[in-house]
Amino acid sequence: MATDDSERTTALHSPDGGDASGPWTELATGYEQARAREDSLDRLVEWPAQRDVLGDVTGLSVLDAGCGSGAKLAQLVQDGAVASVGIDISGNFVSESPDLRLLQGDLSDLAAVPDLVGRRFDRILFLQSFGYAKDPVHALRSARALLEDDGFVLLTRTQPIRYAIERAEENGTTLGEEYFSTSSFSYRHRSWNDGVTLTKRPYTMSDLLNIFSAAGMWVEKAVEPQMSREIAQRYPHKQAVLDKYLGILVFRLRPLPGR
Ligand SMILES: C[S@@+](CC[C@H](N)C(=O)[O-])C[C@H]1O[C@@H](n2cnc3c(N)ncnc32)[C@H](O)[C@@H]1O
Repeated sequence: MATDDSERTTALHSPDGGDASGPWTELATGYEQARAREDSLDRLVEWPAQRDVLGDVTGLSVLDAGCGSGAKLAQLVQDGAVASVGIDISGNFVSESPDLRLLQGDLSDLAAVPDLVGRRFDRILFLQSFGYAKDPVHALRSARALLEDDGFVLLTRTQPIRYAIERAEENGTTLGEEYFSTSSFSYRHRSWNDGVTLTKRPYTMSDLLNIFSAAGMWVEKAVEPQMSREIAQRYPHKQAVLDKYLGILVFRLRPLPGR
């Protein structure tokens, strides 16, 4: 639900590593409530697109990195996924079941998580969570080490142009200046919890593609999901958000042979 209403504050100093994870202990509840709303972009656009690129999960094991409450993974288990694990820093989870384990932990180095040692997964998900990895190339390489040979990573990120538009409006600058800026910025999400400030590290499309290559992955499929005409007519205020901010990027990544 990265593309819902938001509100920015002034730029902060650039932190080392990824986007700050700390605020999620306070944000988790508000995020899940907002995501569950009938008109959330996650429900209308993002989860359907993620689910579509994921395809049939019957009999497949799934690792969901930055799984939030684990509700999406629980749905995949209902759809037939087995021996699946969700990991999230916030530890605010739905109930576990025989094929669903939920762990509190950091997605930055999945292969080093004690409960994951010796495991392999058919599908590894980073759904709007990859920005929180301390070192994105290391995080993706570490995830790759847990992937079955014929498995893939499903990774989604907010269109970087969205943040550039917001910052350009706020700072009275241009789209290009903000898109290519390397200064971290702070950001509040009105519909999640407007009292919590998230710090974000900017990125460009080239940054994303170069991270994938450096981690030994190639893009098998990329999608920029939009609403159907029917849903757009039912939720014009959400179509307006997409018209302005574009939405999210969805990537299916596979390991490059021999890397
Ligand atoms: C925007 S939410 C996305 C949640 C879920 N993947 C979804 O699609 O609804 C980002 C999630 O990343 C989690 N997160 C942030 N930093 C993390 C870290 N270092 N390790 C694991 N999870 C993290 C947050 O707690 C939050 O649940």
